[in-house]
Amino acid sequence: MLHPHVRPRRLRSTPAMRRLVAETRLHPAELILPMFIREGAGGPVPVGSMPGVVQHSLDSFRAALHEAAAAGIGGVNLFGVPEVHDAIGSGATDENGILNVATRIAREEVGDALVIQTDLCLDEFTDHGHCGVLAADGSVDNDATLVRYAEMALAQASAGAHLVAPSGMMDGQVAVIREALDENGFHDTGILAYSAKYASAFYGPFREAVDSQLKGDRRSYQQDPANRREGLREATLDLAEGADIVMVKPAMAYLDVLADVAAVSDVPVWAYQVSGEYAMVEAAAAHGWIDRDRAILETLTGIRRAGADAVLTYWAVEVATRLLGRSA
Ligand code: PBG
Repeated sequence: MLHPHVRPRRLRSTPAMRRLVAETRLHPAELILPMFIREGAGGPVPVGSMPGVVQHSLDSFRAALHEAAAAGIGGVNLFGVPEVHDAIGSGATDENGILNVATRIAREEVGDALVIQTDLCLDEFTDHGHCGVLAADGSVDNDATLVRYAEMALAQASAGAHLVAPSGMMDGQVAVIREALDENGFHDTGILAYSAKYASAFYGPFREAVDSQLKGDRRSYQQDPANRREGLREATLDLAEGADIVMVKPAMAYLDVLADVAAVSDVPVWAYQVSGEYAMVEAAAAHGWIDRDRAILETLTGIRRAGADAVLTYWAVEVATRLLGRSA
């Protein structure tokens, strides 16, 4: 009879053995919760395509911040949902604009317990829904947008953001934001750069979550899903421009890009598990087609295994709470 000498199954034999040899672990501190805060009166509004996710009122936002802090997650990443939109996204730089108001609240309420991050992009605030301002021919004007991003960085830093998170994929955005922050004394405000960000169908539910005004698409500034090398190029540029953290987005369909960036980065590498990734698992689970709780942990483990030091995920608080319960 033939007996194999090499038996990998030995290390899979018991739960204790599997736990001991696990190469990747999840911890609440490396989970970051994206949150939507809506301008105007009334309570929280559910996002239909993201069961369990809401556009917060300021009251529900406060409560959710404390829940997030109690769960021990690493931070929150804030998106504003303004009532009015215009061509240049004025609400983004207004100190009374919803995102800046929410940032001040977050800093006051839980600023010692959580890292407060702000989406630095114009798309939530523009009436055309693009991430920048438009040139006369309707294209997104890179360098005119950089001026707005510099102003937005100052508004967000003044409101108390620990990390500003440019997500618009304009060339040179990290350098311009770093310079604006430094010239105005915000040396300690960090930049979480969306470095490799792809023009993805998986942002679909997010567009509902922020009442997006977008008609066309973002393919002239977000990356083509076909391109792997380009992801590394974008990350390398952001590192040279002074990014404190680089991020790959979406996560699951781009694990190769994530692994590439993790291999060269000398700063933390994060991944964004986006709205469509969340919706996909929730929808399949609602049909009884997959084991929801296992699937969620498997996606996060895979993203960490590929090289992410931390993950933005809409399940952050739920998973952190589950992890805390397990270790207790
Ligand atoms: C741009 C931005 C988007 C997301 C995060 N920041 C939308 C886009 O680029 O179209 C998507 C996040 C998600 O889908 O969960 N401000």
